[in-house]
Amino acid sequence: MAKPPSGHNLSPYWLPFTPNRHFSKHPRILTGADGMYYIAEDGRKIFDATAGLWCVNAGHGRTSIAQAIAAQAKKLDYAPSFQFSHPGAFALAERLASLAPPPLNHVFFCNSGSEAVDTALKIALACQQLRGQGQRTRLIGRERGYHGTGFGGISVGGLVNNRNMFGPLLPGTDHLPHTYDIEKQPYSRGEPEWGIERADALEHLVALHGADTIAAVIVEPVAGSTGVLAPPKGYLERLRDICTRHGILLIFDEVITGFGRLGSAFGAMRFSVTPDMITFAKGVTNGAVPLGGVLVSDEIHAQIVSTRTGLPDHGIELFHGYTYSGHPLAMAAGEATLDLYAQEDLFARAAALENPWADAIHTLSEFGIVRDIRTIGLAAGIDLEPAGSPGARGFQAVQSAFHTHDMMIRITGDTIALSPPLIISETEIALLVERLRRLLQQLE
Ligand SMILES: Cc1ncc(COP(=O)(O)O)c(C=O)c1O
Repeated sequence: MAKPPSGHNLSPYWLPFTPNRHFSKHPRILTGADGMYYIAEDGRKIFDATAGLWCVNAGHGRTSIAQAIAAQAKKLDYAPSFQFSHPGAFALAERLASLAPPPLNHVFFCNSGSEAVDTALKIALACQQLRGQGQRTRLIGRERGYHGTGFGGISVGGLVNNRNMFGPLLPGTDHLPHTYDIEKQPYSRGEPEWGIERADALEHLVALHGADTIAAVIVEPVAGSTGVLAPPKGYLERLRDICTRHGILLIFDEVITGFGRLGSAFGAMRFSVTPDMITFAKGVTNGAVPLGGVLVSDEIHAQIVSTRTGLPDHGIELFHGYTYSGHPLAMAAGEATLDLYAQEDLFARAAALENPWADAIHTLSEFGIVRDIRTIGLAAGIDLEPAGSPGARGFQAVQSAFHTHDMMIRITGDTIALSPPLIISETEIALLVERLRRLLQQLE
């Protein structure tokens, strides 16, 4: 087995979502990062076209975040979150609530997007039960949805490979159809004109199962991991309307779309649709410390917590949480990250760059192997014609991008997904597109 220059034995570490057998022979190892670039183990500067994994929105190596984490570690390294707390958790919750659309004024902290999704699904079930609607246990996701890898997330998720090895999953879930149709929306920028009627599938599920069995619907405002699928114009409003009419809670999974990716604090604001809960993670700490959470509406919080009657003083309202909920280091990283987003106006910057980004990325449609391109906010999906077995060309793309073109890209099957840090400049967009052009030439 090839060893990287550092000489580590690669076999004890089992990498997630990675072909480990191949990786051990051709490792891609990063040892540093600054601004728009990673540093590879051989010293090369690697252009980060994916903000790590959709999380380093303010770019790498931000000193103020590192200092905040270090200062917090010295002052209070850890505080239990069950029956105790610390000032940082209240401070960050208040800030997040002020960023989110009203009435999402309450935050439940966890450590990742997957935990945030499972937390939101559990809150939905608890809320329905306390509303006197305990028969509402069905959870609805969407085809091609990605909601992390917990059992809740894969049950409502819509990606077959993430589901098919893990048994029957949660009972009583169902799925809306995805919203993508290449014939109807080729080479789209922003929200496609076509597809609002796909939201009506929720009415069909209501007719099939009965509204009084459905607790919640969860969707990503823009499906990210499955290749950047923007919602059709009017689709999210229609989902909101159907949910409201039938007493179904609407959850937006904003693990990717939160914190500026779409040019606003949350996708809910960009699309002017307010769900009952928003899950977040990733960009909340610029990726520096694991943190996730759920923003919850006043009504749900009242139902479960603040106006709950009949509980004794020692009665816990929700039997749920994590050892590291509201971890002091994550809270400190979150505060410093939100400061940076505000000081550098990064959400507005992403909005201002949306058109130049789309203009530049769509020039890649000239390549024969490019089947479709979709852009929205500072994200793009580029579908490649498969070569041989599905995913083979995508896999070749990620390797060549790294080893030959000094670039980190993300792939899902044969789709390249791009989501650069929001600090990217127009010159850097041009540089990235030039490298992508060389990559596509090589792959053709
Ligand atoms: C929409 C969405 N939800 C949930 C997750 C899971 O997040 P994590 O990997 O932090 O568990 C992701 C990760 O990419 C995501 O994109």
